[in-house]
Amino acid sequence: MFSKIVATGSYLPEKILTNDDLAKFVDTSDEWIRTRSGIQSRRIAADNEETSDLAVNAGRRALDAAGLTAADIDLIVVATTTPDMIFPSTACIVQDKLGASNAAAFDIQAVCSGFVYALSIVDKMVASGQHKNALVIGAEIYSRILNWKDRATCVLFGDGAGAVVLTASQTPGILATRLHADGSRRAILNVPGHVRGGQVWGDPYVHMDGPAVFKMAVQVMADVCNETLAMANMTAADIDWLVPHQANVRIIDATGKRLGIAQEKTIVTVQGQGNTSAASIPLALDTAVRDGRIKPGQVVQTVGVGGGFTWGSALIRW
Ligand code: ACO
Repeated sequence: MFSKIVATGSYLPEKILTNDDLAKFVDTSDEWIRTRSGIQSRRIAADNEETSDLAVNAGRRALDAAGLTAADIDLIVVATTTPDMIFPSTACIVQDKLGASNAAAFDIQAVCSGFVYALSIVDKMVASGQHKNALVIGAEIYSRILNWKDRATCVLFGDGAGAVVLTASQTPGILATRLHADGSRRAILNVPGHVRGGQVWGDPYVHMDGPAVFKMAVQVMADVCNETLAMANMTAADIDWLVPHQANVRIIDATGKRLGIAQEKTIVTVQGQGNTSAASIPLALDTAVRDGRIKPGQVVQTVGVGGGFTWGSALIRW
C-alpha cells in the first residue's frame, strides 16, 4: 500500500499589502525588497480570521477537487507555527469547523519545513493502511508574529494556507521523503517569546539572522533533494517540477542551480505571497496544479527549510 496526492486546494486572505504600502510605515523601498527577495506583495489575514479559518478554506477546496466530503476524511494534520491557541491543536479546530467527525487530528510544528514534515509522517500513516483519506494542510498568519517596526523581517512574510488530500493507493505517489533538524542553529531564526504565568515572557516577534539563514538554506536544500532522488534511484534529470519553500527568489535560484534544474521547471509564487512558512509549498503546488503545469504522472520535488533549524524533502509522483 502507498499514499498518493489526489487533490490540492489553497486560500489567500483578501487584503493585499504591497511593498509601497510597507514603505509608508517602515524605512524600506519596493526596489530593496524586490532585489533582495523577489517579493512584490503579500496577503494579510483579516482581524476576524484565524489560522484555522485559512486552513478550512484551503481544505474545503482540496476536498471539492478530490470529490470527497468532510465525512470521508479520517486524518487531519495541520503544519503551523501560528496556531489559533496554545491548545487544542489547530487541526482539532479545523476538524470541528469542517465537520470531519471521523478524523483524528494533530498539528506539526517544524516552521517553514512543516508541510514536508507533515507529508512525510502522513505518508507513513496512510501507507500502513491505518488511514485512507488524509487532509494535510499548511496554514499560517505570520502577520501576527511580525514586529512591523523591524524592516529586516516584516517585509519578508505573508499569510495563507494550502492543502492536499492524500489517499491510499496501489501505486506509489510519495516516492521518498527525508527529514533533518539541527537544533543547535535555533538562534538564527526564532520567536523566543512564550506565555508564563499569564504573561508573555520574552520577545514574541520573529527574529532572524538573514545572511546566516540564507547560507544555511542554500546549503541544505539541494543536499536533501539529492538524498530523496538517490532513495528513489532518480537524478535531477527525472524531475519535472521543483517546488521549493517560497522564502526568497535568490534562495530558490541558488537551489535550482546547485541541483541542476532549469528555472523554467521551478514553481515560484513568492512574488505575490511573501514567505508563508508552512503554507508556501502547498500554496505553490495548488497554483501549479490549477494552472495546468503539474500533470498526472509527473515527478515533483518539494523541499522545505526553516526555523529549528529544520529541512526536508518529499519526492512525489503526481
Ligand atoms: N529595506 C531596506 N533596507 C533594509 C531592509 C529593508 N527591508 N532590511 C534590511 N535592510 C538594510 C540593513 O539594515 C543593512 O543595512 P546596513 O548595511 O546599513 O547595516 C542592509 O540592508 C543589508 O543589505 P544586504 O547586505 O544587501 O542584505 P542581504 O543581501 O543580506 O539581504 C536578506 C538581506 C534579504 C534578509 C537576505 O539575507 C536573505 O534573503 N536571507 C534569507 C532570509 C529569508 O529568506 N528568511 C525567510 C525565513 S527563513 C526561511 O523561510 C527558511
